Amino acid sequence: MNIGTPLTSSATRVMLLGSGELGKEVIIALQRLGCEVIAVDRYANAPGHQVAHRAHVIDMTDGKALRALVEQERPHLIVPEIEAIATDALAGIEQDGLAQVVPTVRAVQLTMNREGIRRLAAEELGLPTSPYAFAESREQLQAAIDNGIGYPCFVKPVMSSSGKGQTRITEQSHVSAAWDYAAAAGRVNHGKVIVEGQIHFDYEITLLTVRAKNAAGQVETGFCEPIGHVQVQGDYVESWQPQLMSNKALAQSQDIARKVTESLGGLGLFGVELFVQGDQVWFSEVSPRPHDTGMVTMISQRYSEFELHARAILGLPVDVGMRQAGASAVIYGGVEASNIVYEGIAQALAVPESDIRLFGKPQSFIKRRMGVALATGGDTDQARDRAKLAASRVKPVKAD
Ligand SMILES: Nc1ncnc2c1ncn2[C@@H]1O[C@H](COP(=O)(O)OP(=O)(O)O)[C@@H](O)[C@H]1O
Ligand SMILES: [Mg+2]
Repeated sequence: MNIGTPLTSSATRVMLLGSGELGKEVIIALQRLGCEVIAVDRYANAPGHQVAHRAHVIDMTDGKALRALVEQERPHLIVPEIEAIATDALAGIEQDGLAQVVPTVRAVQLTMNREGIRRLAAEELGLPTSPYAFAESREQLQAAIDNGIGYPCFVKPVMSSSGKGQTRITEQSHVSAAWDYAAAAGRVNHGKVIVEGQIHFDYEITLLTVRAKNAAGQVETGFCEPIGHVQVQGDYVESWQPQLMSNKALAQSQDIARKVTESLGGLGLFGVELFVQGDQVWFSEVSPRPHDTGMVTMISQRYSEFELHARAILGLPVDVGMRQAGASAVIYGGVEASNIVYEGIAQALAVPESDIRLFGKPQSFIKRRMGVALATGGDTDQARDRAKLAASRVKPVKAD
């Protein structure tokens, strides 16, 4: 793979669809490799907009608008960073030879909808998952639970992320509210949910899995060390690497991740979410792109998940090695305000072996992820304590 000179006719142009905190880091990694990067998001001054060669604001679920922008910018590669994209337009763009979508259009289409990826994993690939059913009405939901899913169970819109519209329910009286919540919060396709029986796991992991070309040009699958994480209401608050696992559970996790990513195909990094109990592993879901819990790799690995994704999609070889035990802890907005100010940064960075990333989001909400604290340590316990301490010292406040 050759890389040209940005802003000239030889440039290697990459378009990010979605330019949040994860996209921002992918853009920085691509910029360092000499790519010309175009950042797209639904609102102005998104994190990735601030570090790209050019920034655009469009509704990415509008296929016509997306196609027009691709025709204007002529990227070589299109990198979806979010799920809410008009994937039919992406398919058309690739069919017409306008640009290549990474890792593949099919991967993006299957993973944007919980039904697509769940049916692929459980029914086609035969991988272990939680028991599940789909429902398109309150009555169907109740029937699915009564006919086998049982309680406790999770009700989720088929199209949603970061826990939006998701409820864990433990009894019949919760079903109606769970249906209403899912229908209101699901994006695009209102009114279809997946209901999953609860897996009583010991811990859950993200297994970052990279499909990249080796020096001989063959596609190989590589696995980062497993990442452990804590989710609160479906949103990640803390992650660490490595998560200690039995050899059997690790081998089983890698086997599942290999099968899913081989089926999705293409080049790039995937975040495979798995539940583990003893030596037993269940597939949960997969992102065909860097994963929020993988932000820890900015401090724990030789190359972060963002650098690995950038290299892989450009057809370059990768090194998935870890450097040191590390952890990440989320910094929330804590206030509803625009152009907020972050106090306590010096105190946060006084924590040994710590670092922070502030995403630069123009608008803060109480539960919006505005930054992340990172730390290394002698082991993950020490790294977690440091990351949480550093995060707790950063105080977003209203500017006056
Ligand atoms: N079937 C399940 N059994 C146990 N825990 C679950 C189940 N489904 C979801 N969870 C919990 O909720 C979190 C978010 O669910 P997930 O399906 O990953 O939604 P999202 O796409 O919003 O990340 C998971 O990481 C896990 O902690
Ligand atoms: Mg998830």
